[in-house]
Order: sequence, then C-alpha cells, then structure tokens
Amino acid sequence: MAATPVMTPLQSVIGSPNRPLPEAISSESVIEIWGGEPLSGHIPVSGAKNSALVVLGGTLLCSETCRVRNIPDLMDIGRMAEVLLALGLKVNRAGHMLDVDASHVSHSKAPYDIVSKLRASFFVIGPLLARLGVARVPLPGGCAIGARPVALHIRGLQALGAQVHMDHGVVHAYVPGARGKLKGAKIYLDYPSVGATETLMMAATLAEGETVIENAAQEPEVVDLANFCIAMGAKIRGAGTNTIIITGVPSLHATDYSIIPDRIEAGTYLVAGALTKSEITVGPVDPSHLTPLLAKLRETGSKVEIEENMNIRISPGEKIASVDVQTLPYPGFPTDMQAQFMALLTLADGNSIVTETVFENRLQHVAEFNRMGADIKLKGDCAVIRGVSHLSGAPVTGSDLRASAALAIAGLAAKGKTTLHGLHHLDRGYERFEEKLRNVGAKLRRIPLSEVDSAAQPTIGAEN
Ligand code: UD1
Repeated sequence: MAATPVMTPLQSVIGSPNRPLPEAISSESVIEIWGGEPLSGHIPVSGAKNSALVVLGGTLLCSETCRVRNIPDLMDIGRMAEVLLALGLKVNRAGHMLDVDASHVSHSKAPYDIVSKLRASFFVIGPLLARLGVARVPLPGGCAIGARPVALHIRGLQALGAQVHMDHGVVHAYVPGARGKLKGAKIYLDYPSVGATETLMMAATLAEGETVIENAAQEPEVVDLANFCIAMGAKIRGAGTNTIIITGVPSLHATDYSIIPDRIEAGTYLVAGALTKSEITVGPVDPSHLTPLLAKLRETGSKVEIEENMNIRISPGEKIASVDVQTLPYPGFPTDMQAQFMALLTLADGNSIVTETVFENRLQHVAEFNRMGADIKLKGDCAVIRGVSHLSGAPVTGSDLRASAALAIAGLAAKGKTTLHGLHHLDRGYERFEEKLRNVGAKLRRIPLSEVDSAAQPTIGAEN
C-alpha cells in the first residue's frame, strides 16, 4: 500500500521565508548557456501550468476538500495558492500534490498585488460568484504580450444574471435576489477565449438550469478543467468542441484529480532537440495535444515518432527546412509555441514567415533573436525570417515567459555564451528548467546577476 503523504500547510505569502511555491528564486539571477552541446536522453514533462492554475481556481466551487495531483512547482502556482489563501481557503502541499479545503470561503475579494501579477487569478471571479453570489476581483491590467481585456468574461457573467460594475479598478460582481444564484443562459463568445470559456464554464456548474457556451475555446486545458469539474459532480458536455453545455447542479463534492502533462513545456523541449540537431525523447505528454507543432516540426525535416508511455522522440533531418506558421486558437498552432518555433526557423534553409494572430504584441523577441545574429524583419503581425548559418551567443532578455524559453533554447544552438536575463518570466512556467536540460547534456548554469561581467549586460529588452 502507498504511504500516506505528509501534507504541509501553506500559510505564507510570496517573498516570506516560508513561501509556498516554488523553490526557485528568480530575481537578480541570470542563466549562462554555452551553446553547441548535443543533447541526448529523456526530458520529463511536468503538469500543465495553465490547467493547474484554473483547476486550483475551480476548487472554490466545492465545499469539501479536493486533492489535485501533478501540480508543477512554479511561481505562478504559488501565486494562485496565495489567492486561495487570501480568500480563506486551507491549502496543504506534499510535493506535486495540493489539498484545497474550500469548506469556508471567508472573503469575496481577491488581493490586487497578486491579481496584478497573475492574469489567471482573475478567473476566480466565476467560481466565487457561483459559490457566494458575490465576487470582487481587481482588473488584471495590461501585460507584456498585449492588452488582454476581460470583456468576454464580464459579458458572459452578465448573461448568467450577474450585475457587474467597475469601481477604482476592481470588478464588483453580484447576483441580485435573496438566493444569489446565477441562471443558465446561452452565451456566444465573440472570440474563443480560453480564460472566458473557463470562467463561464465554472460559473455555470452551480447555476440554475442549462448554459450553452458557443464559439467556446477547445484547448486541452479547457477539457482538463471540465473533467475536474465533472469529477466533482458537475454536468458538462462538449468540452473540447466549440459548444459546451453545462447543466447546473446545487453543489459539488470532493475529488482526487491529476492534471494533464504540459503540452507547451513538452513542445519547448522538442524544439530544443530540433534546434540542436539532437535525438531526445520528451514525455509524458498526450501527442494529440501537440498535433500542429508536430506537423510543423516534420515539415522542417525533423523526424518525430510517438513512442509508448506517452513519449515523443525527435531526431534531426538533413537540414532545417523553412516553413510558414500562423498562430490560431486550438487546434491551430499555439501562440505559446510561436517564439520557440521562431528560434528554430532562424537556422532554417530559406525564408519563413511567422504570423501572430492571437495577441497583438507578441513579437518582441525578434529584436533579441537579431541580437544573436538572426535575420528577422517585422511587418505588422508578421515576422519575416531569413535563415542564417549560425546564431552567436549574446546577453538577452525575454519579454515574456515563452520568449524567455525561446531565447534559452536558441542559446543551446548558438556559438559561444548566451546570458539570459529576466528569469522571473521563465520561473513562472518552467519547472527545474536548467536541471532538466543539464540532464540531457546541455551546458548551462544559474548565477547571481552580481557575478555577471557588466560589459556583457543587455541594453534593451527591459521589463515592460
Ligand atoms: C490563455 C493562456 C495563455 C495562452 C492563451 C491563448 C492561461 C492561464 N493562459 O490565456 O498561456 O497564450 O490562453 O492560447 O490559460 N480577449 C479579448 N477579450 C476577453 C478575453 C480575451 O479580447 O475578454 C482576447 C485577448 O486579448 C487575446 C485573445 O482574446 O488577444 C486570446 O486570449 P485568451 O484566449 O483569453 O487568453 P488567456 O485565457 O488570457
């Protein structure tokens, strides 16, 4: 019989000596990468960050204790746990497992200092409103990859019967009437927003009657959240298609649920293999979640094989062929893989065009790739990439999480040393990044910024 895990209560705030998650300290550090080392072996994949974040928010729907497994140890997860603690929930942790006891929700207001740093924490507005009939959540604000509004979340909640107004930057939502119950409705999303689909699906689980979300997001993380809610007793059909039907139930019950593997982390390491012309395996991951990326990797000439135990093997072709890519909502090519795939195309034989259609400001890494010797021109939402024979190591700064990962894997293929700054982005979304890469032969290390040769520090690409 398996031993009973020792759970540790999370009571601290980020920055305190007992900070809950993660273990990595990213501020004032850099990663130095010496390129040119071939990789070989297996890279393990953690639980999906974007699923884990929203599933943790979803625990608010249940007045019993839910156990969630395969939670990655990341800064963003720590922040989401902080939000739950601030709302009065009890959170216990043992390794990658969290127990969340939402029997008592003492506050309906999420704290500004965390919501402003973690957009996904805004998504608690749906479960809070469904559970308490009232929610107050600060607007998440702008971020490095675009304005990222929440109008679709709010319009959907209004369709479910909530009154919503803005006051001093805080979204106040409440359900009028003594019972404080949302009412099922037909909601058409102007755009298949992942966050709006998740907010509304969670809110509808406890609403009276049936809700239909049309033009819903179809991302695997939406399906994971639906499966978590179904495991708690929710009635949801159609998750993974563009129409989700939710029949409200009076209450949800405890469950024990495991988060799916992170398709974006897996994809990042597969591209690292292709970039360094190495043969590696990556997993576990559901290959069907990576269909567009695997198709594009094959188009560039990489050999991609699906193995047993949910592993994917990548091995190099003769050359890297140029390809065009356009980001789209799932099942299109993911915006969260755009920067990493662009890193690969910088070394392609010929010209490629990458078009970003999901976010309006997500090509800021182009300037940093060019600093490494890439030849990329920006034309609106398009990056025109002329393949070069090699990249050169340079000091660089990622403008967001995926841009940081892309620059790091570009550094693995570059000649000489790359110094990656701004690690607070990377630590938001990649668990044990350096360790996982070192284990397959990469040469990289994290050092304090104070130990970096000042002449090698970057002059652009600072925090925005
Ligand atoms: C989620 C993911 C993020 C991924 C993105 C797109 C999480 C925690 N994050 O973000 O990693 O890059 O999906 O796959 O799951 N929009 C509106 N109005 C709204 C909501 C969104 O105009 O009310 C727009 C956004 O500005 C953006 C587009 O819709 O241009 C897609 O955003 P959305 O799908 O909502 O992304 P997130 O849920 O924020």
